[in-house]
Amino acid sequence: MKRAMRVPVLAAAFSAVAAVAVRDLLQKEHTILRNFPVIGHARYAIEAIGPELRQYIVAGNNEERPFTRDQRRWVYASAKKQNNYFGFGTDNDIEYTPGYPVIKHRTFGATIPPSSPRAGHEVWLPCGKVIGAARGRRNSFRPDSVVNISAMSFGSLSGAAVQALNRGAALADCLQNTGEGGLSPYHHNGGELVFQIGTAYFGCRDEKGRFSLDRLKQVVESAPVRALEIKLSQGAKPGLGGLLPGAKVSAEIAATRGITPGRDCVSPSRHAEFSDPDSLLDWAELLAAETGLPVGMKSAVGDMEFWEQLTSLMADDPGRGLDFVTIDGGEGGTGAAPLIFTDTVSLPFQVGFARVYKMFAAKDLHERVAFIGAGKLGLPDNAIVAFALGCDMVNVGREAMLAIGCVQAQKCHTDTCPVGVATQNAWLTRGLDPARKSVRVANYIKTLRRDLMKVAEACGVEHPGLITTDSVEILDGRTAATPLDRVHGYAPGWGLPSADDRKALAELMSQTAPQGGAAPASDTTAG
Ligand SMILES: Cc1cc2nc3c(=O)[nH]c(=O)nc-3n(C[C@H](O)[C@H](O)[C@H](O)COP(=O)(O)O)c2cc1C
Ligand code: SF4
Repeated sequence: MKRAMRVPVLAAAFSAVAAVAVRDLLQKEHTILRNFPVIGHARYAIEAIGPELRQYIVAGNNEERPFTRDQRRWVYASAKKQNNYFGFGTDNDIEYTPGYPVIKHRTFGATIPPSSPRAGHEVWLPCGKVIGAARGRRNSFRPDSVVNISAMSFGSLSGAAVQALNRGAALADCLQNTGEGGLSPYHHNGGELVFQIGTAYFGCRDEKGRFSLDRLKQVVESAPVRALEIKLSQGAKPGLGGLLPGAKVSAEIAATRGITPGRDCVSPSRHAEFSDPDSLLDWAELLAAETGLPVGMKSAVGDMEFWEQLTSLMADDPGRGLDFVTIDGGEGGTGAAPLIFTDTVSLPFQVGFARVYKMFAAKDLHERVAFIGAGKLGLPDNAIVAFALGCDMVNVGREAMLAIGCVQAQKCHTDTCPVGVATQNAWLTRGLDPARKSVRVANYIKTLRRDLMKVAEACGVEHPGLITTDSVEILDGRTAATPLDRVHGYAPGWGLPSADDRKALAELMSQTAPQGGAAPASDTTAG
């Protein structure tokens, strides 16, 4: 550049920097900028890309939350059907991590694990209970998969993401829960559904925002809805309503939810159709009678008084009851919530689930209700503990998001999700190809099922639902461990389906049992 030109360019750059410096010095909002004009901006730039920096450069394999790098690597590799093994041995600090679960294999069990690492990738792993059968619901059914896609609404997720998950559910023969945002066009891609009914009755409300039974019946008939889930709360934000800002209420979201486009959309914190366990049960019965579908509820676990009342009412009157109960752990995910709620309100899954299960079991209700767990249960070790504690199925939320491309940038609440999963920004969502990602999420779910099956076989049983609390111990440090039943105060037999359900399950699984596991026996007659 000629000297004559260089001077004005430098002068312009200097003026721009000087203008920024003056603005920084005069503003009162950011102390750093007031104290360190111009260079203070670097701090904000680094903060903005901090998660990415930590993720790719700084973090170790077992650092980072909610999902460690190892956990994400396992999900990504499983979703791509790549080698998801890890070499050299564990890098977890097993001996020094109190609370670490250890699964106890059996040397000679009833089942023989197959020898090939690829054996049975397509294992059929149905639910151990027929949902709704105990109450004779017209459309009771045995879900084909013990792993299903957790509630995440269209609105918190993009249409492309919902479509990828729905197509993936069809490929993996599992269920997709709609979440509380109603049933969108993206849910009509072959995957079977659980329709969730939240406090705002999105998708089943009238023009005044009141619950509409007629509307619910229309929605249920319009799609392959297999069950209804009444949402009481979610682990990451129990007791809180929600707000979808008007700017995000597109015409499509408005039509799906039954609200006005462009206007703020508020979800109340409580239901209007019932106000206590008694009226909740009445309402569940009404929905079941009108739709013929099994009806359950989803809740996080806090105060136990509610559960005590609920189980007492169900025990006193076998004519009323829930067909399934989904327990969400406090470590669960959300599109957006205040930090105090995500971090500290409601019990983590293991503690909360065990407390609730024990209440059902103590009143002999546990064999009549299907239990579903959520809260990082899309990782095999957590899922196995959940099955041992009495879960019949697990729901996967964020792990399914990882499978369709989530990089854990944790910007779901800003509408700037870089991979188009949790945003309504058209530019960002266009990068997410539902066809390709549907295969990924199906691969991930199938791999998880296969790994659960392998662990079940190592524990000597035909199905993860038959793993008992005896098969798990919780380490108390380097020199002690406590059996899972003792940790949670379980009585013998708790955590398992009924004897009839166990027999049926073992028979179902023996029809598809893979072969292998041992060399042919030696010829003892020779020589
Ligand atoms: C983006 C997002 C949206 C969610 N939306 C809902 C919802 O509409 N209804 C609900 O009951 N739970 C919702 N959840 C909670 C999940 O269904 C699930 O219970 C929780 O994330 C725990 O599972 P995970 O650890 O596998 O993610 C949402 C979670 C995420 C991450
Ligand atoms: S990548 Fe998207 S979906 Fe995943 S955590 Fe970040 S913002 Fe949320």
